[in-house]
Amino acid sequence: MPLVSTTEMFKKAYEEGYAIGAFNVNNMEIIQGITEAAKEENAPLILQVSAGARKYANHTYLMKLVEAALIETDLPICLHLDHGDSFELCKSCIDGGFTSVMIDGSHLSLQDNIELTRKVVEYAHPRNITVEGELGRLAGVEDDVNVSDEHAFYTDPAEAEEFVTKTKVDSLAIAIGTSHGAFKFKGEAKLRFDILEDVTQRLPGFPIVLHGASSVLPEYVEIINKFGGKMPGAKGVPEEMLRKAAQMAVCKINIDSDLRLAMTAMIRKSFSEDPANFDPRKYLSPAREAIKQVVKHKLVHVLGCNGKV
Ligand code: G3H
Ligand code: 13P
Ligand code: ZN
Repeated sequence: MPLVSTTEMFKKAYEEGYAIGAFNVNNMEIIQGITEAAKEENAPLILQVSAGARKYANHTYLMKLVEAALIETDLPICLHLDHGDSFELCKSCIDGGFTSVMIDGSHLSLQDNIELTRKVVEYAHPRNITVEGELGRLAGVEDDVNVSDEHAFYTDPAEAEEFVTKTKVDSLAIAIGTSHGAFKFKGEAKLRFDILEDVTQRLPGFPIVLHGASSVLPEYVEIINKFGGKMPGAKGVPEEMLRKAAQMAVCKINIDSDLRLAMTAMIRKSFSEDPANFDPRKYLSPAREAIKQVVKHKLVHVLGCNGKV
């Protein structure tokens, strides 16, 4: 099956009240862990690549790895640019075979964000490529840019309506209290579901995206801390909140940190248990397996997209 855009995936997800998992990929083991899980659960899938991941792994290598995953799984897979920061980067990914791009103009003024996003949409749509925009700003770290809590702000629903109408984007990432990375809440976890509801009322049937949606699974943080890591106070979005969002207008849930934590935990554990091991296959196999188990858990118990192919 060839790569697909998000159009059909989101339509079905919206109608049936579940969300598609969008998992960040950086190398072969991560792609294998995610896609093996999706195959076993018969789930549609978004594999997303950040600018940093593309620089790290090289565009051609990533394309070929994803091509291999298509052959191995025969699933509907969308290859998506995560947090594209310029028209040129989006164009390069579209020209290079991606089927969806995000243009992240969330740091710009509303008018500049609209202009930039519209330019990407005008290039993407005639080529059947879908575009995700972002409005509002999440706290946390992306591509080494750290947005502190005081510089983060929630999405304004009236602006969201104007943004979608003027840009004709296919989906919109909104800020309702999630954040990137492994330290999301200092105190109690709180998401502004009222903002999501308001946006949904203004834009009925329109797919919403949630970034910064890792739950920071405690079992892996525990292993990291036990085997020499230092992540005290790591905290993510409670799974019941994500399940609720997935049943609402949220059609795409972005998960990266949970995969990083699972991989790091198993590599740390492996080195601690066998300090003489210097065979990468021996410490990457449990890491890949942990990613697979995390993704299976998300597909079935958080996103509800298992069996939806
Ligand atoms: O939102 C950011 C993603 O977790 C990707 O992170 O830019 O370090 O690859 P990265
Ligand atoms: P997490 O850091 O919560 O995994 O968020 C990932 C993300 O939003 C990628 O765009
Ligand atoms: Zn993100």
